[in-house]
Amino acid sequence: MLLAIESSCDETSAAVLDSSLVLSNIISSQLFHSKHGGVIPELASRAHLLSISAVVREALETAKINENDIDAIAVTTEPGLIGSLLVGSNFAKGFALRLGVPIVPVHHIEGHLYSGCLEDSSVEFPFVALVVSGGHTSLFLVQSYREYEVLGSTRDDAAGEAFDKVAKLLGLGYPGGPLIDSLAKQGNPNAYIFPRSMLHDGTYNFSFSGLKTSVRYFLQKTFPNEIPDEILPDICASVQQAITDVLVAKTIRSAIEFKVKTITIAGGVSANSRLRQDMNQKAIEHGIRMVAPRMTYCLDNAAMIGFLAKKKLAEYPQEYSKLDFKVRSAALRAKRT
Ligand code: KG4
Ligand code: ZN
Repeated sequence: MLLAIESSCDETSAAVLDSSLVLSNIISSQLFHSKHGGVIPELASRAHLLSISAVVREALETAKINENDIDAIAVTTEPGLIGSLLVGSNFAKGFALRLGVPIVPVHHIEGHLYSGCLEDSSVEFPFVALVVSGGHTSLFLVQSYREYEVLGSTRDDAAGEAFDKVAKLLGLGYPGGPLIDSLAKQGNPNAYIFPRSMLHDGTYNFSFSGLKTSVRYFLQKTFPNEIPDEILPDICASVQQAITDVLVAKTIRSAIEFKVKTITIAGGVSANSRLRQDMNQKAIEHGIRMVAPRMTYCLDNAAMIGFLAKKKLAEYPQEYSKLDFKVRSAALRAKRT
């Protein structure tokens, strides 16, 4: 049995996996950040400290095991908020030391990258993976559990950040993605035309900061005093469509160029209903399969960390006896194989 721990941002999560079967996946979300309009790092790490023991205990109870059944521990060590990462990794180190079991450090984005394989064991390499969250927007060509290439990334804001910033301009709450998604369901996606930056630039990079600026100017010009409530769904649907169009076009183009049969999407924004619908439709048109994990595997969760750790342990069991790994807040390097 493997116990996995994830605490890189504002979710404290613990999961238990037996072979590749998820026996439990407990996620405790720090909802109080919404009143600050974004995640406050210092408050996030304190909240992880308060909840981590209970979350791990619940993961063991749900899986109906006790701690002596654990034969390995996995933990997210990068990237993320440094204080939050330290809480999870120190807890994991202490536990591993006490139980005398190996510990597997896992990269958070790599966890998202393979969550399509966790969801559907028939996913075959190579595949293209779009990882879209509040902190990351990158497209990957994935060759195996050890080899992948970053085809492109955002040059500025992540797609989730664009959703969150636009939601703030519209006076909605935080996180903005789910609120925009929900309001957009009653709106017209062609009501307003917002920029699709870098759509035809020939690269697999993205840019979303211009979209937020364009929405701000549009609001200042068209609704200088107050945004009428009845207009909100149309604005939300139009912004969501602008983001979706770029994500779908670049992902499909990469799948065609690299002749892959499967696309996976992951990260918080992959929960977006329009993105799922449009990506799936375009994929079908090109004879490509889209795999989108269920919501609990899309958002930050320990099951995806445990799943990748199992693969790593199976391949190189002797590598994970040390406790001297470090946590890092840095994002992915530009290219890695
Ligand atoms: O992966 P995640 O839980 O955390 C990290 O950023 O690592 O992603 C959170 C992001 C937020 O920006 C949130 O607004 C966005 O995912 N999000 C969505 C939806 N659900 C969450 N964006 C668009 N549509 C959604 N349904
Ligand atoms: Zn994430």
